[in-house]
Amino acid sequence: MSQSLMKVSGLGKDYHLNGNPISILRDVDLDIREGEINVIMGPSGSGKSTLLTLMGLLDAPSTGSVQLMDKKIPHFSQEKLTDLRLQYLGFIFQDYHLVPNLSAQENVALPLLLNKDMKKQEREQISQDLLKSVGLGHRFAHFPTSLSGGEKQRVAIARALANKPKIILADEPTGNVDTETELKIIEIFQQLKKQNVGMLIVTHNEIFKQYADHLYILKDGYLSKGVSQVEGF
Ligand SMILES: Nc1ncnc2c1ncn2[C@@H]1O[C@H](COP(=O)(O)OP(=O)(O)OP(=O)(O)O)[C@@H](O)[C@H]1O
Ligand SMILES: [Mg+2]
Repeated sequence: MSQSLMKVSGLGKDYHLNGNPISILRDVDLDIREGEINVIMGPSGSGKSTLLTLMGLLDAPSTGSVQLMDKKIPHFSQEKLTDLRLQYLGFIFQDYHLVPNLSAQENVALPLLLNKDMKKQEREQISQDLLKSVGLGHRFAHFPTSLSGGEKQRVAIARALANKPKIILADEPTGNVDTETELKIIEIFQQLKKQNVGMLIVTHNEIFKQYADHLYILKDGYLSKGVSQVEGF
């Protein structure tokens, strides 16, 4: 059986609003394994981005635990969490999170700065190749303000792949693209599957149902199993 890359157990998240607790996620269990595409669908506001934020080690859960490579994530320092993120995780944000004063190519190269031995020239080569692979070979020097929504999304995808992560966490990765680009992005995910990367994609896009090894529905903070077309046939 394929190896578990990231596992969450009994995960819950509460926010406090005007002193009143509101539960956004309740008792979520999920296992991201090598070479598997996991898809979560669910209505707007159901907690999909919140779940990804917890799994991306960007926020701490209220209850439950996150395990990365069979090791429980304790309350690490921010610095240690950043190291783990850079080493294992590729995060594609719903709203891209590109650095405004860096070019497309510099944005993609950012995670590569972790590797102190890597020369600038190699960083440039890798980030340019990644941008080409998402169809942005002609946009290396553009800053985020001079990129369209779909182009920014593709820069964000290229950046998430820069460190060759074992796990991809993607928040609505085809939210802003045309059909041709959508297919290109799906092709990238399928390639990553072949390379044994484990993926969690949260989306409203029904097309992902046919590529999901495991399909889940998130509703009112509860995660339940849906029937993906891969599992169903
Ligand atoms: N910091 C916060 N404080 C209070 N409530 C919050 C906070 N962040 C998110 N929420 C609430 O949590 C709920 C879940 O938000 P989340 O962004 O996870 O939804 P989502 O499923 O990703 O929605 P969408 O499909 O629209 O992206 C929403 O009702 C939102 O208002
Ligand atoms: Mg969201």
